[in-house]
Amino acid sequence: MSTKQIALVTGANKGIGLETSRQLARAGFTVLMGSRDEARGKQAAEPLRNEGLDARFIRLEVTDTASISAAAETIGRDHGRLDVLVNNAGIAVEGWDAKPSTVSMEKVRETFEVNFFGLIAVTQAMLPLLTKSAAGRIVNLTSILGSMSEHRDPNSPIHGMLCMAYNASKAAVNMFTVNLAHELRETKIKVNAAHPGWVKTDMGGEGAPLDVTQGAWTSVYLTMLPETGPTGGFFHKDVHMRW
Ligand SMILES: NC(=O)c1ccc[n+]([C@@H]2O[C@H](COP(=O)([O-])OP(=O)(O)OC[C@H]3O[C@@H](n4cnc5c(N)ncnc54)[C@H](OP(=O)(O)O)[C@@H]3O)[C@@H](O)[C@H]2O)c1
Repeated sequence: MSTKQIALVTGANKGIGLETSRQLARAGFTVLMGSRDEARGKQAAEPLRNEGLDARFIRLEVTDTASISAAAETIGRDHGRLDVLVNNAGIAVEGWDAKPSTVSMEKVRETFEVNFFGLIAVTQAMLPLLTKSAAGRIVNLTSILGSMSEHRDPNSPIHGMLCMAYNASKAAVNMFTVNLAHELRETKIKVNAAHPGWVKTDMGGEGAPLDVTQGAWTSVYLTMLPETGPTGGFFHKDVHMRW
């Protein structure tokens, strides 16, 4: 069995997931870069490999049970365990000004399929491998937009941002994080939610203040938590957010 730490990042072919993969690989991890599209995934891994980093494409469509099982089987066969799971893949499909009263049910379902159901399915499939790690870490990419306290606060920067399908999917991820952390509290596995900040990516758009290097900071920080570190938390950088 390899002595190198093994990390799986979902949605690693671009944006925050790609940068998280780069930073973890530079820190010495073997990084399995999940991508639903083989060509995009291999293309994304190439510059990291050219840098001499141990970054490998793995096919992973988070809404497809067969794809998830195949990825878990491959990781089990090749590495025997998993040390880090970054549930990064996510979508926002309803537009940032969608109204709860009119948002299409199709878009609500589509959003939950990836952001919530997909995240749970990947986590459940990888847990047997994470259990074999000496210090398993699960990081769930959520958002300040999943925070009920922020939405209710008229002084919050996100007050009135009614992209309800996305918001609700991330609030649901927060609940999964807290409940899973509780279930695993006597184990070596820590489970935390990460808000990356507003980041310049295809999702975040050009107007975002943070670049991907800054956007990957919270995910990377939470994968490196020591044994004494928190579990069941919701962080931006190393600061706990309001739920
Ligand atoms: N950017 C921000 O400001 C911001 C703020 C708060 C939270 N976040 C969260 O941070 C995470 C990363 O966001 P980002 O800004 O880097 O977004 P992004 O640039 O749009 O990248 C999203 C990634 O998720 C992948 N993905 C989407 N659906 C998938 C599926 N069904 N199966 C597997 N992979 C799938 C995409 O793959 P394809 O290329 O194949 O589509 C892509 O690799 C998301 O969870 C997002 O909600 C972002």
